[in-house]
Parts: sequence; C-alpha cells; structure tokens
Amino acid sequence: MIYGDVNSTKNALTEEKYKLLADTLTAAGFAVESILYHDEGAARLEEELSRFEVILVWVNPIEQGNDRRHLDELLLKLVDQGVFVSTHPEVILKIGTKKVLYTTRHMDWSADIEQYSDYDDFKNRFLISLGNSKIRILKQYRGNGGNGIFKVSLANTDERSIRVVQATAANEARILSPDDFHQEFRKYFDNEGVLLDQEWIPEISNGMVRCYLTGTKVSGFGYQESNALCPHPEEPESGVRPTSRRFYFSEHCGLFQDLRTMMETKWVPELQKIHSIPDEKMPLLWDADFFIKNVNMRDNEQKYILCEINVSCVSPFPESCIRHIVDKLLSISRK
Ligand SMILES: Nc1ncnc2c1ncn2[C@@H]1O[C@H](COP(=O)(O)OP(=O)(O)OP(=O)(O)O)[C@@H](O)[C@H]1O
Ligand SMILES: [Mg+2]
Repeated sequence: MIYGDVNSTKNALTEEKYKLLADTLTAAGFAVESILYHDEGAARLEEELSRFEVILVWVNPIEQGNDRRHLDELLLKLVDQGVFVSTHPEVILKIGTKKVLYTTRHMDWSADIEQYSDYDDFKNRFLISLGNSKIRILKQYRGNGGNGIFKVSLANTDERSIRVVQATAANEARILSPDDFHQEFRKYFDNEGVLLDQEWIPEISNGMVRCYLTGTKVSGFGYQESNALCPHPEEPESGVRPTSRRFYFSEHCGLFQDLRTMMETKWVPELQKIHSIPDEKMPLLWDADFFIKNVNMRDNEQKYILCEINVSCVSPFPESCIRHIVDKLLSISRK
C-alpha cells in the first residue's frame, strides 16, 4: 500500500523502490497486489482490504499535507480482523514518532534531549535550554523529510534575536524576536503534538548511518553525507558540503558490525523493554538513524548517537532487507 490520490496511476508493483520485493514475494508463492491509499477513500477501503492476509504499508507521517490519523484508524480495524500489517499503529505511536528520543533518553544512544508537552512548557523552558547550549535542534512530533526540524541558535549580534533554519531549506536562516519565535512554534502543539529539543551534533559532518531492521534483526545499512543543519555559511564554523546520495550495504558490511552487534544485543532489547513491545510486534521494516559522534572510538557505546527512528515509510531500502522480509512473511503465513 502506497499513497496515491484519486487520479493517480501509481502502482507499487512496478515502482523502482518496491519492484524487487514484489517480484521476490511473487516467486515465493504470494499473490501480491498494489493498493493506493488516500484519506477520501479510507472508508471504502476497509472491506476491500479485509481479504488480505498481510498489508505492507508505505505512507509518510505527513503526506500531501495530511497526517496518518485516518490510515492508522483503518489499519487498527484490519488488525482486529486478523490482518497482519507491516507496523501495528500502536507500535508507530510507541517508537515511530520523535517522542522516542525522549522515552529512550536514559539509553546510551541518546543525545541530550528535552520534551515540551504543551505551549506554556515550551515558552517557559526552551530559551533557557538555548541559552545554556547556544544551538539546539527542535523536532516536531511526527514528520519526515526534514519538515518541522529546526536548528535554533542565538544570533551573534543580539541575544534577543533568534536564528532559525529548517532542515528542508538549510541555507535559509530567519531571525526572529522571542515573541515571534514562540508564536511561530505554537502550531506544533495542536492535536496533542509535542516538541522535542535535541542537542546539535556537529559531527553530522561525519555523515549518518541508517541501520535497517526487520523485526529485531539488522537487515542492512545506509550511509549518507548530509548538509541539512550543517554549519550555516554565515556562521564562523562554516563549511557546508553537498548532500550525497545514500549508499546501501547488507547487514554483513564490515564497516558497521559494531553498530549491528550493539543494536541486536543491547539497544533493540532495551527499546522493546521500555515500550513493552514483544518480538512479534516489532515492525517488519524500520530504521534507526545515527550520527557518528566518535569516529575512532573503541568503546562502541559512545560512537553512535541516535538522530531518529522511522517506521511509517521506510523506502528505498537495501536489497539485503528483502530476504528477511520474505522469510518473516513466509513464517507468518505458515502459522
Ligand atoms: N541533533 C542534530 N544535530 C545535527 N543535525 C541534525 C540533528 N537532528 C537532525 N539533524 C539533521 O536534520 C535532518 C532531518 O532530521 P530527522 O532525521 O530527525 O528528521 P526527519 O524529518 O524525520 O527526516 P527523515 O525524512 O530522514 O526521516 C537529519 O538527517 C540531519 O541531517
Ligand atoms: Mg524521519
């Protein structure tokens, strides 16, 4: 299931991102169909979808201005009817929103993190946090593609001026007064939203590792150099390099075996324990994005810092994930 509006001619079975998975599932004996999701058609889809044994969903948290509220309601009904969905909507709420950065703040993958649960809390505490750290990253509750991810700093010239750069337009800095700044961020508390306030990790310049998982096991890696929220050209520590494409590796890639071991033996079990998620409810395909804070660190526990977790729409993904997904679905359908 992918997003497509009423007039769309998209088909997941022929889209580059899903084609090989669809072909491999077909070869393994599954009958695979493409379903387009859009909010207007959600009510009608329930009956059509209840005939499926498994539904694999790739729909972003923010899609054409809509959120996943209606979709997640629909998926919950289907789960109640016995359909297996790639990620249970309750699990998205537990580990697939930016809140996970706060719920796992005591794990040793965590950067310094604060959470503001309402607008007054944000108004009372954020500028103190900014004053202490000078640069902070604000993240909205649910989002993707750098939407609602901001680097916030005190403008050099005037302590009452706040510089804001969004990860979607990394070179456009805006300077706001404290009042305008607070007003601007008020909307992120609508609909039970929260704001997360993460320390800025300058080692973003080392690139980021995306660790892909199928259930509790690592099934591949991605590596990408990103210029989003890197030093701004006007800032003294300037030096923006272009964003690279993401390079993919299998779970056996020697470069990231320390991360694989850490995830499988420590961090994933801890994540499950904190959120009470049994093995069989872990998402079929998800990823955790890491900064490489200490490149040559021998003590693995301080090498990688969590940037965020994605579970709603993990694509594209490394080819190595496909075998893990197909094996998992075969084991479910045999039960
Ligand atoms: N704490 C931080 N320090 C430095 N850069 C950051 C930080 N947090 C996020 N970034 C930059 O902003 C980008 C977007 O942030 P994040 O991954 O949290 O949001 P997202 O919208 O969910 O992104 P995606 O679409 O990749 O899932 C990151 O890829 C990284 O380049
Ligand atoms: Mg994300």
